[in-house]
Amino acid sequence: MPSVSEFHQSLLGSLQAGTFVKITLSEPLGTEPGLRNLRARLVELKEGKRLSVVESFATREVTKNHRLEEGAAYLANAFTSSWCRAHLFTTGGDFQFRRERSGKFSVRAQRPTFSAAPQLQHDRVRPEEDALFREPFLQRLGVTNVLGKPRPGMAGKLRQIQRFSELLGHLLEDWVGGGGSDHPESRLLKVADMGAGKGYLTFILAREFKARGWSAEIVGVEQRPELVESSNQLAADLGFSRLRFECGSIGQWRPAAGLDVLVALHACNTATDDALFQGVSAGAQLLLTSPCCHQEIRPQLSVPAPLAAVLDHGILLERQAEILTDGLRALLLELRGYRARVFEFVEPEHSGKNLMLAATRRKSVGRSVESIRDELRAVMKAFGIREQRLASLLEEWP
Ligand SMILES: C[S@@+](CC[C@H](N)C(=O)[O-])C[C@H]1O[C@@H](n2cnc3c(N)ncnc32)[C@H](O)[C@@H]1O
Repeated sequence: MPSVSEFHQSLLGSLQAGTFVKITLSEPLGTEPGLRNLRARLVELKEGKRLSVVESFATREVTKNHRLEEGAAYLANAFTSSWCRAHLFTTGGDFQFRRERSGKFSVRAQRPTFSAAPQLQHDRVRPEEDALFREPFLQRLGVTNVLGKPRPGMAGKLRQIQRFSELLGHLLEDWVGGGGSDHPESRLLKVADMGAGKGYLTFILAREFKARGWSAEIVGVEQRPELVESSNQLAADLGFSRLRFECGSIGQWRPAAGLDVLVALHACNTATDDALFQGVSAGAQLLLTSPCCHQEIRPQLSVPAPLAAVLDHGILLERQAEILTDGLRALLLELRGYRARVFEFVEPEHSGKNLMLAATRRKSVGRSVESIRDELRAVMKAFGIREQRLASLLEEWP
């Protein structure tokens, strides 16, 4: 009969045998407020090899480095007290441990996702970072060279790619952690990247799903045929069999059979609204957008009295229009049952287009639809906004 001691033994054994790659704990029991997931990997510090454990809370991360035996014991205790699920990656196999709230314990072994343990480096270059930077698709796309270093002028792009990969990883862990019967690994997921461009992030999507052993059909939608052709060629060359690119317009494209994850990074102006509408209409679980080129609201703005004095500067008015656009998008998503968050996902020195609007579908957002709708209408009226594309598509305004 499997038990938590089997979890402890498997983890400790892999650490001692040098087959350990990484581990994640998810589906928190709710014993610690805001705790979302836990990840651990090996790092080489001055004092020697350590298990670096990162506990991710809603607004912060806490990292602690442990000696290997101590770390394995720490994780076994943590699993017992705070989590329902653990995913251990080793070069010998992947193991999914599951503890029901009833106490029932199960373990499922799968083929290994990783064939080699990551090379340990000093914490400054993290193993997963190193593995990402050496991805053949990043080399073929001209982002990195064969040494895994950014090509001239591509450091900012690489940082964006890296942050997107991390963020996506956390959101996918959250998805599993959210519980419910519809676990993402139990079926073929449908994913769309709208305005895929050269496909940097579309390939990252494919990589992240593969790393979790989740099957996903990923489509990059792009209006420029030459980019679609080169991205399809790259996917074929590198053996990404469930990744394809289609030529089309974000506003016109429709998913053939539902959507689970929708991504649209830097789709200009109202193309972000078109993409969000597609995701909402298809009932996608996760929406990830990084809006840019906000042009729709600014010409409509009439600034309410007390603000007029401080927004009497073009740049501030422009920023106000951007804030309103993205804030309204977040409210509209809440109105449709999503928990929406707006944050900077990459340091401003790497990209000025660094705002992320991420939304996760929830059974309840904790507020009444009427109160959200009242707030939305109040903002529209106060700033004289006659039209906002997502609001129109969702038939919420005018
Ligand atoms: C700034 S690039 C971003 C590419 C990619 N999402 C990224 O972040 O690396 C925007 C891409 O979206 C495409 N695009 C813009 N509007 C579009 C539309 N309405 N339909 C399809 N593609 C669009 C452009 O051709 C361009 O390749």
